[in-house]
Amino acid sequence: MNPEHFVQWFRQAGPYVNAHRGRTFVVQFSGAAVEADTFSGLIDDLALLHSLGIRLVLAHGARPQIEQRLHEAGREWRYVNGLRVTEAEDLCYIKQAIGRARIRIEARLSMGLANSPMHGARLRVVSGNLVTARPLGVRDGVDYGFTGEVRRIDDCAIRRWLEQDAIVLLSPLGYSPTGEIFNLSAEDVATAAAHALRSDKLLILSDNLELRDLDGQPIRELSPSDAERLLAKQPALNEETARHLRLALRACQAGVRRVHLLDRRLDGALPLELFTRDGVGTLITADIYEGLRPAAIDDVVGLVELIQPLEEDGALVRRSRERLEVEIDRFSVLERDGAIIGCAALYPFAEERLGELACVAVHPDYRNSGRAEMLLRRIERQARTQGLSRLFVLTTRAAHWFRERGFEPAEVADLPVQKQQLYNWRRRSKVFIKTL
Ligand SMILES: CC(C)(COP(=O)(O)OP(=O)(O)OC[C@H]1O[C@@H](n2cnc3c(N)ncnc32)[C@H](O)[C@@H]1OP(=O)(O)O)[C@@H](O)C(=O)NCCC(=O)NCCS
Repeated sequence: MNPEHFVQWFRQAGPYVNAHRGRTFVVQFSGAAVEADTFSGLIDDLALLHSLGIRLVLAHGARPQIEQRLHEAGREWRYVNGLRVTEAEDLCYIKQAIGRARIRIEARLSMGLANSPMHGARLRVVSGNLVTARPLGVRDGVDYGFTGEVRRIDDCAIRRWLEQDAIVLLSPLGYSPTGEIFNLSAEDVATAAAHALRSDKLLILSDNLELRDLDGQPIRELSPSDAERLLAKQPALNEETARHLRLALRACQAGVRRVHLLDRRLDGALPLELFTRDGVGTLITADIYEGLRPAAIDDVVGLVELIQPLEEDGALVRRSRERLEVEIDRFSVLERDGAIIGCAALYPFAEERLGELACVAVHPDYRNSGRAEMLLRRIERQARTQGLSRLFVLTTRAAHWFRERGFEPAEVADLPVQKQQLYNWRRRSKVFIKTL
């Protein structure tokens, strides 16, 4: 690798390393991921996250392993609504298959060959009776037998292990107070663990993720209501994507703050998602992302209410209501409980491959919570999608806010010619440019 690129990349990762240190992430991956060629890469990435101070809880699946074992034993099996019906006679094979998968994961996490990314990692992996289960029971006339659902997660024990620097590994098995064993879905275990631990993130590694918008662009962020709309509108989503999206939605509704859907076939999906600005997966969050969307004509009234006081104060350039109506497509807004509490606009100058970031504003009651930063990220993404390579901003009051976010001081002469002609020398705004 070119040393310059390496240093640049390493430095860019710095803020993410700081942000994630000491946080708890639940990572779920399938049994197919455990068998795949890419598995050792996944383990290396998990070891890396651990060494960067992230507390990891792993929830693994074992479907192909179980099917193979049942097949070897000459047993038939069936799924109803995506869940296996587990007969009492199948249970011993299921335990063997899950045990095999778990041991494979533990063995791989124990490796530390010189010249491998795991060298010196010395990971401690813990599993045990951490999941209490109950039978799924009879549903729509189908008795699911020993297929169960999570009843309780021993979050106290998991927290203690995590504090002692261990990685906690949860298998798709749960025990009941009656002494029985139930086969669970890894997804159920992962979501229940994320919820019980109030984990900062739930990362779901899908075997076949295809989440694109109607223009075929990958979807990077979704609010729960966007996700619901997508599920309702796009029946073309593949089965696994739809299932994981529903799961993410349920997890968000249950209070998990951030759920990331990632395609595990992409080598390095975890570090790319966690340590780069744009990520490679889809983040579903009910955080303040709720309501970050393109502005529509009905938002003009709310926009005027938000920006008028700032115009009067001199922080923003005056825009007439008519101009807002004409240019409404340029705006993104942040809506909360029906009120517009933030906005930003992008004006592209395609010839110069420059974009103007304009009218960045957040209502005073909602400042200092990263909302403007979020608007900026959205505008930057939009600009990149439109093929622009730099963003400029004119500001009188927020120079340092932009400088701290990678904008460099520039001259009026650096602006697109058309913009130079409109520059208001009395206002004397400062010019900043950021390379995207
Ligand atoms: C600038 C503005 C958009 C920031 O909104 P926000 O949602 O509070 O911003 P964030 O939460 O993402 O960032 C908060 C950080 O920026 C800092 N900050 C806020 N306003 C700032 C300003 N005018 N100059 C420098 N830093 C500023 C805060 O101190 C905080 O930093 P800290 O956490 O280190 O203390 C908001 O203050 C605003 O609407 N200002 C008036 C409009 C304006 O001047 N817009 C820019 C011209 S286009």
